[in-house]
Amino acid sequence: MPTKIKILPPELVNKIAAGEVVERPVSVVKELVENSIDAEATDISVEIKYGGLKYIRVVDNGCGIDKEDVGLAFTHHATSKISSFAELSRILTLGFRGEALPSIALVSQVEVVTKPRSFSPSPLSFPYPTDPSKDEGEEDAARTAPTNSPSPQSSPIKGEEGASRPLPTGVQLKIEGGRIKSISEIGAPEGTSITVRELFYNTPARRKFLKSPNSETRQIIERITTFALAFPQISFKLKVDGKEVLNLQKADGLKQRIGQIFGSQILKQILELDCDYDVVQIKGFLGKPEIAKASRAELYLFVNQRNIFSKALYHAIVTGYKDLLPRGKFPWGIVYLSLPPDTVDVNVHPAKKEVRFSNEKQMYEFLYSAVYKTLNTGLVMPIYTDLKERIVTSDTETHGDASLQIREGSPGYFTEKDKIQSFQQEFLAEVFKGMKVSPIKEKKAGEPAAGVANLWQLSNMYILAQVKGSLVVMDQHAAHERVLYEEAVRNLTIEKASSQHLLFPIVTELSPSEFMTFEENDELINKLGFEVKPFGGRSILISGVPPLPKIQNGEVFLKDILVDLEERLKAGGEKVKSVAASFACKGAIKAGDKLSLEEMNSLFDQLFATKEPYSCPHGRPTLIRIPIEELNKRFERS
Ligand SMILES: Nc1ncnc2c1ncn2[C@@H]1O[C@H](COP(=O)(O)OP(=O)(O)OP(=O)(O)O)[C@@H](O)[C@H]1O
Ligand SMILES: [Mg+2]
Repeated sequence: MPTKIKILPPELVNKIAAGEVVERPVSVVKELVENSIDAEATDISVEIKYGGLKYIRVVDNGCGIDKEDVGLAFTHHATSKISSFAELSRILTLGFRGEALPSIALVSQVEVVTKPRSFSPSPLSFPYPTDPSKDEGEEDAARTAPTNSPSPQSSPIKGEEGASRPLPTGVQLKIEGGRIKSISEIGAPEGTSITVRELFYNTPARRKFLKSPNSETRQIIERITTFALAFPQISFKLKVDGKEVLNLQKADGLKQRIGQIFGSQILKQILELDCDYDVVQIKGFLGKPEIAKASRAELYLFVNQRNIFSKALYHAIVTGYKDLLPRGKFPWGIVYLSLPPDTVDVNVHPAKKEVRFSNEKQMYEFLYSAVYKTLNTGLVMPIYTDLKERIVTSDTETHGDASLQIREGSPGYFTEKDKIQSFQQEFLAEVFKGMKVSPIKEKKAGEPAAGVANLWQLSNMYILAQVKGSLVVMDQHAAHERVLYEEAVRNLTIEKASSQHLLFPIVTELSPSEFMTFEENDELINKLGFEVKPFGGRSILISGVPPLPKIQNGEVFLKDILVDLEERLKAGGEKVKSVAASFACKGAIKAGDKLSLEEMNSLFDQLFATKEPYSCPHGRPTLIRIPIEELNKRFERS
């Protein structure tokens, strides 16, 4: 980063998003830490007292500020980070306005101690002097400063008989209410320490609007945590009222940093997000549904390492989870978007909380698709949620099918086959693990050699299995519907289904509306595996039907499809999707159908060969998982 500070020309100043920079203590912490990060610091220590209102100190081992520039740093619109409008559009630093330090200095008492990094240590160095102005009980900025090598003991005072004038060292500047009080040379380690005392001392009205010190402290802890997630390679320390509350060593990547912050237990409950869409890379981690949160507080979004708020992108993430999340819950997640700086405008919000993308719709779709793909390649499925909620949501078999529309419009709709297959195998291996039931049918080539698992049918409706210490419950109708739906879409668009010839073809008469629906969709209906043609008047001749296990009467099946299809088309459904959905709905195993062990096994197999095993075409879950912890809780085992 260039370190020379210059005042921005007025025409550029006018283009910078104006507004309040310092609203509360956390804004000061944010601005100071951002400066330390921009200064390429690798160690940052923050200390606050009384919610930051009395005292905030940020110490870094960054590039430091040149002696002649220190005063300038507190001048409005003075920055070393940009100098032209063109640079504003490709900004990679967190700061660029030259507004933070002067704004902070206006409403507090600031002390800066800084020394540029380039200084080479004197061989005759000895401990630097302490700052005589320091408050009682406060640590000396110089002594506590994290240091790079060379050692902090670089006070450049010559030996006894050498020249008595000290070599240039650090510089200390004191500024109160925006006015410079003193500037002097001082021994200091490389880097910068900025102390802000008595925030809003000269604007008491502003102080009144602040929350309690505890609440301000919480916001500061949260802010440092957020920085720590964006910059795992930086060590962060935070002391609150003399007590260390965070001590994060430099981490070897985000995963390690997540472990440091949230505890290593969480690492088993998150999935890696890593998708590349040419100009945009999406990385990070997503929480499995079992760690879903009651609020959005643990969903962190970063754009080029800047933490931002974006309603649209949060929505993209939540939508990517679909039915995996219990109702009213939000995902846990740390999501980084990296994109060329000229495709994102960071100069839209005075506190830089929001950004504007040159193509927000595309960004939405990329993110949605990345989340969706990630969740569909891991061992993830909807988890058990409060039964009452399920009952309310279970009656959603409507024809409007909003969830389908999102899915179809998204680039992630076609999930990579390989990933699906490897996931399917992993899941099946779990389901069929260690089951000692002899194979009951010969496997054809390409079929997963899974064996036969112990599965149970409950109320001729649900199939129960054990997976990874959890109880998995499959809704037999919803699951089969998903299987048939995907099969039908394939048959309607790629390859006509095979048909089972009837020994005795059936002639049947349709109602006027059934006949109309038949005429309009006759070709598609034949692709489903029916062999059917008009037979004069409203009569049709059925000579073949799709080979479905539970369908006894091909004539009734076809009529059911036609009635259902008419409804879907009336509701504005797209043709192929509607035909497939009607076929799946009417052809699927029903609640109440008794299944053999072999049929249950085959249903598991087939469901996990689909692209979207977790929901039926109406968006209802096909499977839920009840973790063993949930059972323990119910049985009041601690
Ligand atoms: N910790 C630091 N280490 C090194 N230089 C710093 C540090 N803090 C501030 N500076 C210098 O002081 C200048 C002014 O800082 P200030 O935060 O006011 O503006 P900025 O970071 O350039 O822009 P913004 O107002 O958007 O934060 C910076 O451009 C930088 O050169
Ligand atoms: Mg700044």
